[in-house]
Amino acid sequence: MEIIITKDSEEMSDKAAEIVIAQIKAKPDTVLGLATGSTPEGLYARMVRAHKEDGLDFSSVVTFNLDEYVDLAPDHEQSYRSFMNRHLFDHINVNKENTHVPDGLATDLGEFCRRYEQMICEAGGIDIQVLGIGRDGHLGFNEPGSSLASLTQVVTLAPETIEDNSRFFQSEEEVPRFAVTMGIQSILNARKCLMLASGRGKAEVVKGCVEGPITAMVTASALQMHTDAVVILDEEAASMLDRIDYYRWAQEARQQVADRL
Ligand code: PGA
Repeated sequence: MEIIITKDSEEMSDKAAEIVIAQIKAKPDTVLGLATGSTPEGLYARMVRAHKEDGLDFSSVVTFNLDEYVDLAPDHEQSYRSFMNRHLFDHINVNKENTHVPDGLATDLGEFCRRYEQMICEAGGIDIQVLGIGRDGHLGFNEPGSSLASLTQVVTLAPETIEDNSRFFQSEEEVPRFAVTMGIQSILNARKCLMLASGRGKAEVVKGCVEGPITAMVTASALQMHTDAVVILDEEAASMLDRIDYYRWAQEARQQVADRL
């Protein structure tokens, strides 16, 4: 894992945008894996800016989102399809037909999950997967106990997740109980993973993900098995890491050999 520690969430978003924008410039038909939640909002704002101000071209980009609530219509304000349209897709020149968000309304959810995996495969696999991390250590909606070998699946949301996400709904009762999510193995299949976390509220789970044992109790810890996982943290999210001094030192040292990596 490459750990990058930034001053605050603004700098975290700057760094993430640098990586994603460089990827799209190098490969205009990049297959992007995308995440929802508050954490990647700054990254998406920077991608929109790169399109509007610098003409970054998304016309050949293909996207796959990690997850979607079951039984929330795509035009519901809190669906992840709406989130993506609002924060990114409506403001760039991506072909909407090339943007994929799991179908939470599918009558045969099992069949849909198999098809989603197939669609990712047919697109050539995900080049770079953007990830947040839940307070309970989830990636996508892979709650504690989800198999680390899981492919796209239907999950029951954990009480902590329902509580966390209730801030977007009128009440906790309105938060859907189920979601379709790419599995942990689907995420590990991406060629590069880019996980972002900011704020003190994430410090404990970030420690579990980066320095704890690999365990289905913190599904994000599976990133330790990925050969190209970059974790961008702000100071608060990094504050409980035991080896923080080493990560900072390594981050600086890497600059000296950056052109040879
Ligand atoms: P957040 O959610 O970005 O809103 O903190 C992250 C997640 O649950 O994966």
